[in-house]
Amino acid sequence: MEILKVRNYDEMSEKACDLIVEKINKLDNPVLGLATGSTPEGMYQQIIDSYQRTKVSFTKTTTFNLDEYVGLPGENPNSYRFYMNEKLFKHIDLPDNRAFLPDGDADDLKKECRDYETLMYIAEYIDVQVLGLGLNGHIGFNEPGTAFDSRTHIVELDETTRKANARFFDSLEDVPKKAITMGIETIMESKKILLLVSGEKKAEAVFRLVNGEISEDFPASILQKHENVILIADEGALSKL
Ligand code: F6R
Repeated sequence: MEILKVRNYDEMSEKACDLIVEKINKLDNPVLGLATGSTPEGMYQQIIDSYQRTKVSFTKTTTFNLDEYVGLPGENPNSYRFYMNEKLFKHIDLPDNRAFLPDGDADDLKKECRDYETLMYIAEYIDVQVLGLGLNGHIGFNEPGTAFDSRTHIVELDETTRKANARFFDSLEDVPKKAITMGIETIMESKKILLLVSGEKKAEAVFRLVNGEISEDFPASILQKHENVILIADEGALSKL
Protein backbone atom coordinates (compact mmCIF):
# COMPACT_ATOMS: atom_id res chain seq x y z
CA MET A 1 0.00 0.00 0.00
CA GLU A 2 1.37 3.36 -1.00
CA ILE A 3 0.86 6.06 1.64
CA LEU A 4 0.51 9.61 0.40
CA LYS A 5 0.86 11.93 3.37
CA VAL A 6 -0.85 15.28 3.01
CA ARG A 7 -1.16 18.18 5.42
CA ASN A 8 -4.92 18.46 5.76
CA TYR A 9 -8.37 17.70 4.39
CA ASP A 10 -8.11 20.20 1.52
CA GLU A 11 -4.83 18.76 0.33
CA MET A 12 -6.28 15.23 0.53
CA SER A 13 -9.24 16.34 -1.61
CA GLU A 14 -7.00 18.04 -4.19
CA LYS A 15 -4.66 15.08 -4.48
CA ALA A 16 -7.54 12.62 -4.92
CA CYS A 17 -9.15 14.86 -7.54
CA ASP A 18 -5.87 15.15 -9.47
CA LEU A 19 -5.43 11.36 -9.60
CA ILE A 20 -9.01 10.86 -10.79
CA VAL A 21 -8.84 13.57 -13.45
CA GLU A 22 -5.57 12.11 -14.72
CA LYS A 23 -7.14 8.66 -15.01
CA ILE A 24 -10.32 9.91 -16.72
CA ASN A 25 -8.24 11.78 -19.28
CA LYS A 26 -6.14 8.70 -19.95
CA LEU A 27 -8.82 6.04 -20.44
CA ASP A 28 -11.29 5.77 -23.34
CA ASN A 29 -14.20 4.54 -21.22
CA PRO A 30 -13.30 5.07 -17.58
CA VAL A 31 -15.27 3.37 -14.84
CA LEU A 32 -15.20 5.10 -11.47
CA GLY A 33 -16.27 3.68 -8.12
CA LEU A 34 -17.61 6.35 -5.79
CA ALA A 35 -18.28 6.78 -2.09
CA THR A 36 -20.49 9.08 -0.02
CA GLY A 37 -20.04 10.39 3.53
CA SER A 38 -18.08 13.42 4.71
CA THR A 39 -14.68 12.37 3.45
CA PRO A 40 -15.12 12.71 -0.35
CA GLU A 41 -17.16 15.94 -0.30
CA GLY A 42 -14.10 18.16 -0.81
CA MET A 43 -12.87 15.91 -3.60
CA TYR A 44 -16.22 16.22 -5.39
CA GLN A 45 -16.00 20.00 -5.12
CA GLN A 46 -12.51 19.88 -6.64
CA ILE A 47 -13.74 17.63 -9.46
CA ILE A 48 -16.55 20.09 -10.22
CA ASP A 49 -13.97 22.92 -10.32
CA SER A 50 -11.79 20.93 -12.72
CA TYR A 51 -14.81 20.27 -14.94
CA GLN A 52 -15.77 23.96 -14.94
CA ARG A 53 -12.21 24.87 -15.89
CA THR A 54 -12.57 22.35 -18.80
CA LYS A 55 -9.76 20.16 -17.50
CA VAL A 56 -11.95 17.06 -17.63
CA SER A 57 -15.17 15.80 -19.18
CA PHE A 58 -17.27 12.81 -18.11
CA THR A 59 -19.23 12.05 -21.28
CA LYS A 60 -17.51 8.66 -21.65
CA THR A 61 -17.39 7.82 -17.93
CA THR A 62 -19.51 5.30 -16.03
CA THR A 63 -19.80 5.44 -12.23
CA PHE A 64 -20.84 2.89 -9.62
CA ASN A 65 -21.42 3.89 -6.02
CA LEU A 66 -20.45 1.59 -3.21
CA ASP A 67 -23.71 1.54 -1.35
CA GLU A 68 -27.21 2.80 -0.64
CA TYR A 69 -29.57 2.67 2.32
CA VAL A 70 -32.49 0.25 2.11
CA GLY A 71 -35.90 1.89 2.10
CA LEU A 72 -34.91 5.39 1.00
CA PRO A 73 -36.01 6.42 -2.50
CA GLY A 74 -33.66 8.62 -4.52
CA GLU A 75 -35.72 11.73 -3.75
CA ASN A 76 -35.11 11.34 -0.01
CA PRO A 77 -32.40 13.86 0.98
CA ASN A 78 -30.67 11.20 3.09
CA SER A 79 -30.40 8.69 0.27
CA TYR A 80 -27.01 8.32 -1.32
CA ARG A 81 -28.58 8.87 -4.76
CA PHE A 82 -29.69 12.31 -3.56
CA TYR A 83 -26.25 13.03 -2.08
CA MET A 84 -24.52 12.11 -5.35
CA ASN A 85 -26.92 14.20 -7.45
CA GLU A 86 -26.36 17.23 -5.22
CA LYS A 87 -22.63 16.90 -4.58
CA LEU A 88 -21.50 15.83 -8.01
CA PHE A 89 -23.73 14.50 -10.76
CA LYS A 90 -25.86 17.58 -11.45
CA HIS A 91 -22.75 19.76 -11.79
CA ILE A 92 -20.88 17.72 -14.42
CA ASP A 93 -21.54 16.22 -17.86
CA LEU A 94 -21.77 12.58 -16.73
CA PRO A 95 -24.70 10.97 -18.65
CA ASP A 96 -27.59 10.22 -16.23
CA ASN A 97 -27.93 6.67 -17.50
CA ARG A 98 -24.32 5.88 -16.60
CA ALA A 99 -24.39 6.99 -12.96
CA PHE A 100 -25.26 3.83 -11.07
CA LEU A 101 -26.17 3.30 -7.43
CA PRO A 102 -27.95 0.28 -5.98
CA ASP A 103 -31.68 1.00 -5.68
CA GLY A 104 -32.37 0.61 -1.96
CA ASP A 105 -36.06 1.02 -2.64
CA ALA A 106 -36.31 -1.88 -5.11
CA ASP A 107 -39.12 -4.43 -4.52
CA ASP A 108 -36.75 -7.35 -4.88
CA LEU A 109 -33.53 -6.40 -3.10
CA LYS A 110 -31.73 -9.67 -3.83
CA LYS A 111 -32.38 -9.24 -7.54
CA GLU A 112 -31.17 -5.65 -7.24
CA CYS A 113 -27.84 -6.94 -5.81
CA ARG A 114 -27.46 -9.45 -8.65
CA ASP A 115 -28.34 -6.86 -11.29
CA TYR A 116 -25.78 -4.44 -9.83
CA GLU A 117 -23.07 -7.08 -10.13
CA THR A 118 -24.12 -7.74 -13.74
CA LEU A 119 -23.87 -4.04 -14.59
CA MET A 120 -20.34 -3.89 -13.19
CA TYR A 121 -19.43 -7.05 -15.08
CA ILE A 122 -20.67 -5.54 -18.34
CA ALA A 123 -18.69 -2.36 -17.62
CA GLU A 124 -15.62 -4.59 -17.07
CA TYR A 125 -15.27 -3.53 -13.45
CA ILE A 126 -13.92 -0.44 -11.82
CA ASP A 127 -10.76 1.38 -12.91
CA VAL A 128 -10.52 3.59 -9.82
CA GLN A 129 -12.51 3.02 -6.66
CA VAL A 130 -12.71 5.80 -4.07
CA LEU A 131 -13.12 4.56 -0.50
CA GLY A 132 -13.61 6.17 2.89
CA LEU A 133 -12.79 4.34 6.12
CA GLY A 134 -15.29 3.55 8.87
CA LEU A 135 -14.15 3.86 12.50
CA ASN A 136 -14.71 0.10 12.86
CA GLY A 137 -12.78 -0.64 9.66
CA HIS A 138 -15.80 -0.91 7.39
CA ILE A 139 -15.40 -0.22 3.69
CA GLY A 140 -18.58 0.38 1.78
CA PHE A 141 -21.08 -0.90 4.32
CA ASN A 142 -19.13 -4.10 4.87
CA GLU A 143 -19.16 -4.25 8.64
CA PRO A 144 -16.78 -6.32 10.79
CA GLY A 145 -17.44 -10.02 10.24
CA THR A 146 -18.32 -9.66 6.55
CA ALA A 147 -16.81 -12.48 4.49
CA PHE A 148 -13.87 -11.44 2.34
CA ASP A 149 -15.48 -13.32 -0.58
CA SER A 150 -18.73 -11.34 -0.39
CA ARG A 151 -20.30 -9.76 -3.49
CA THR A 152 -22.98 -7.05 -3.60
CA HIS A 153 -25.37 -7.89 -0.76
CA ILE A 154 -27.83 -6.62 1.83
CA VAL A 155 -26.36 -5.77 5.24
CA GLU A 156 -27.57 -4.99 8.73
CA LEU A 157 -25.82 -1.80 9.76
CA ASP A 158 -23.71 -1.80 12.91
CA GLU A 159 -25.00 0.34 15.77
CA THR A 160 -21.71 2.30 15.69
CA THR A 161 -22.19 3.03 11.98
CA ARG A 162 -25.80 4.11 12.49
CA LYS A 163 -24.69 6.43 15.32
CA ALA A 164 -21.84 7.83 13.23
CA ASN A 165 -24.29 8.57 10.38
CA ALA A 166 -27.10 9.86 12.61
CA ARG A 167 -25.69 13.38 12.19
CA PHE A 168 -27.33 13.51 8.76
CA PHE A 169 -30.78 12.45 10.06
CA ASP A 170 -33.30 14.04 12.46
CA SER A 171 -32.79 11.25 14.97
CA LEU A 172 -31.03 7.89 15.38
CA GLU A 173 -34.37 6.09 14.84
CA ASP A 174 -34.57 7.58 11.36
CA VAL A 175 -31.25 6.00 10.28
CA PRO A 176 -32.08 2.90 8.20
CA LYS A 177 -31.09 -0.44 9.71
CA LYS A 178 -30.15 -2.01 6.39
CA ALA A 179 -28.21 -1.11 3.29
CA ILE A 180 -27.06 -2.59 -0.01
CA THR A 181 -23.33 -2.59 -0.46
CA MET A 182 -20.78 -3.84 -2.93
CA GLY A 183 -19.08 -6.82 -1.32
CA ILE A 184 -15.45 -7.00 -0.29
CA GLU A 185 -14.54 -9.22 -3.21
CA THR A 186 -16.31 -6.78 -5.55
CA ILE A 187 -14.28 -3.88 -4.14
CA MET A 188 -11.04 -5.88 -4.35
CA GLU A 189 -11.62 -6.39 -8.10
CA SER A 190 -11.15 -2.66 -8.70
CA LYS A 191 -7.99 -2.08 -10.66
CA LYS A 192 -6.93 0.80 -8.44
CA ILE A 193 -8.18 1.99 -5.06
CA LEU A 194 -7.90 5.46 -3.55
CA LEU A 195 -8.55 5.31 0.17
CA LEU A 196 -9.16 8.75 1.64
CA VAL A 197 -8.81 9.37 5.37
CA SER A 198 -8.77 12.63 7.29
CA GLY A 199 -8.66 13.56 10.96
CA GLU A 200 -7.29 12.26 14.22
CA LYS A 201 -10.46 10.37 15.11
CA LYS A 202 -9.59 7.90 12.34
CA ALA A 203 -5.96 7.48 13.50
CA GLU A 204 -6.59 4.21 15.36
CA ALA A 205 -8.44 2.78 12.34
CA VAL A 206 -5.57 3.81 10.06
CA PHE A 207 -3.11 2.09 12.40
CA ARG A 208 -5.08 -1.18 12.19
CA LEU A 209 -5.49 -0.80 8.45
CA VAL A 210 -1.74 -0.54 7.90
CA ASN A 211 -0.28 -2.63 10.73
CA GLY A 212 -3.08 -4.87 11.94
CA GLU A 213 -3.56 -8.50 11.01
CA ILE A 214 -5.64 -9.21 7.93
CA SER A 215 -8.93 -10.27 9.43
CA GLU A 216 -12.64 -10.16 8.69
CA ASP A 217 -12.94 -8.44 12.09
CA PHE A 218 -11.48 -5.35 10.46
CA PRO A 219 -12.67 -5.40 6.82
CA ALA A 220 -10.31 -2.69 5.51
CA SER A 221 -7.31 -4.85 6.48
CA ILE A 222 -7.90 -6.85 3.27
CA LEU A 223 -6.61 -3.84 1.35
CA GLN A 224 -3.09 -4.84 2.43
CA LYS A 225 -3.43 -7.58 -0.19
CA HIS A 226 -4.51 -5.34 -3.07
CA GLU A 227 -1.69 -4.49 -5.44
CA ASN A 228 -2.71 -0.96 -6.28
CA VAL A 229 -3.96 0.97 -3.26
CA ILE A 230 -3.05 4.55 -2.49
CA LEU A 231 -3.90 5.72 1.01
CA ILE A 232 -4.24 9.50 0.89
CA ALA A 233 -4.27 10.57 4.52
CA ASP A 234 -3.61 13.75 6.45
CA GLU A 235 -1.37 14.31 9.46
CA GLY A 236 -4.20 13.70 11.95
CA ALA A 237 -5.17 10.38 10.37
CA LEU A 238 -1.54 9.24 10.28
CA SER A 239 -0.74 10.41 13.82
CA LYS A 240 -0.65 6.88 15.31
CA LEU A 241 1.61 5.32 12.69
C1 F6R B 1 -19.91 5.64 2.04
C2 F6R B 1 -19.29 4.46 2.59
C3 F6R B 1 -18.72 4.41 3.95
C4 F6R B 1 -17.92 5.66 4.33
C5 F6R B 1 -17.38 5.54 5.76
C6 F6R B 1 -16.66 6.80 6.18
O1 F6R B 1 -20.39 5.40 0.72
O2 F6R B 1 -19.28 3.47 1.92
O3 F6R B 1 -17.88 3.28 4.05
O4 F6R B 1 -16.87 5.84 3.42
O5 F6R B 1 -18.44 5.31 6.62
O6 F6R B 1 -17.60 7.84 6.29
P1 F6R B 1 -17.16 9.35 6.51
O7 F6R B 1 -16.45 9.77 5.28
O8 F6R B 1 -18.47 10.11 6.66
O9 F6R B 1 -16.31 9.38 7.72
